Amino acid sequence: MAKDIWIGDVQSGSHDGNEVELKGWIKRTRGSNKIRFIVLRDSTGTIQCVIKRESVGDDSFENIKAALIESSLILKGTVNVDERAPGGHEIIVSSVDVVGPVNPETPFPITESAMVAADGGETEFLLDNRHLYLRTSRMTNMLKIRSTVFGAIHSYFRNLDFTEYQAPNFVAGAVEGGSTLFEVPYFGKKAYLTQSWQLYAEAAMPALERLYTIAPSFRAEKSRTRRHLTEFWHAEMEVAWASNSEIMEHGEGVVRHIARAVLEERENELATMDRDLNLIANYADNAYPRMRYDEAVETLQAMDVEIEWGQDLDYSKEKILTQDFDVPHFLTHYPKIAKPFYHRVDPGDEKYVLCHDLLAPEGYGEIIGGGERTWSEKEILSRIDEEGVPREPYQFYIDTRTYGGVPHGGFGLGVDRVCSWLSGADHIREVIPFPRDSRRVTP
Ligand code: 4AD
Ligand code: MG
Repeated sequence: MAKDIWIGDVQSGSHDGNEVELKGWIKRTRGSNKIRFIVLRDSTGTIQCVIKRESVGDDSFENIKAALIESSLILKGTVNVDERAPGGHEIIVSSVDVVGPVNPETPFPITESAMVAADGGETEFLLDNRHLYLRTSRMTNMLKIRSTVFGAIHSYFRNLDFTEYQAPNFVAGAVEGGSTLFEVPYFGKKAYLTQSWQLYAEAAMPALERLYTIAPSFRAEKSRTRRHLTEFWHAEMEVAWASNSEIMEHGEGVVRHIARAVLEERENELATMDRDLNLIANYADNAYPRMRYDEAVETLQAMDVEIEWGQDLDYSKEKILTQDFDVPHFLTHYPKIAKPFYHRVDPGDEKYVLCHDLLAPEGYGEIIGGGERTWSEKEILSRIDEEGVPREPYQFYIDTRTYGGVPHGGFGLGVDRVCSWLSGADHIREVIPFPRDSRRVTP
């Protein structure tokens, strides 16, 4: 049953003149009562297959003539080099079987253009039929780029001897503030879905020193924006003995490594989506500048944007700030009042914390948030009390400081946001197979 010949290999010339067996799905079908032209697709590409009645016999020909788009096929034939065929090759078919037909009573407008047309720009139709939309070349390309991004994150950290480490997803307290916490019933008690791996990573920091993960994080974001999901994939890292600036070097390092990998492994997919490869080469090759929060606020105020010192920067403001940069840039030293309790206060000026956000250009905005952690027991207790957070759920976290605390830090990178930016997507839901937002948990 297994399959040995892939359309991508046939199109790259590995089987010229040979007899091959191909397995795949009908992407397009046209022709007459004597000859059919089928564009067959598999996960690696598409190829035109020429089927003549006289070559395959009447029964097979009638079956293939009736077969609708997305029917699955096994066919045998000869690989013919033909400049005029898309991809430069076609198959002259000698036999064909329809494996899984599509019921003509429930046909589906499954080509990309037909789906987009049926959707009428509302996106609901495409989301309702996500399982079928995944088969379009656009989604297939997105999912391949996404896989490369995940692989590059793993290789970046593993090459540097980081240990991959897993934290629970059911938790007792917030990391990033209570307003985006999902509450779930938990055997007569209340639990929450984690917003971040960080607190449990800090607990293991004295054991592993360099650790990372890629895992889902959950945020009860009511507003539906082009960069928010309620369930997103979060690449996080934590390092003992590291300063804010050293953590930023890793942030820059991993993002440049991802950009390089995407360029090397997914050039074709990006090109088919009309993505400008020079932009991505730029993201891989150049250093990322750093700017303090105060400077960002001054820049915005000079442009008459309404912002007061002390406010966090929302998407609209980040978007304006990214316009001056061709590569991602860091914003550092946010005001203490804008950030959660775990950020370390700057010993040089207590109005600020030693933190950073990395903003992606082309208007994409924040892709990383991180910094140094409040690491002394005394400071963490006073920050927790100051923010009115109960101590009890955080006792394990406080203990990290009580028993041999050390300076440390880390960051979280929104993997879906990085995929969205690098692929040039209009919306974050384009890069994740089954997006979750405030209105949708189906399909
Ligand atoms: O800036 P955030 O909230 O930082 C943290 O969660 C830290 N605890 C991370 C750490 O230091 N270990 O989230 C980190 C990143 C953001 O920069 C963004 O890229 C992404 O996670 N992110 C989201 N992505 C998609 N949908 C959402 N609702 C997201 N919320 C955050
Ligand atoms: Mg953030």
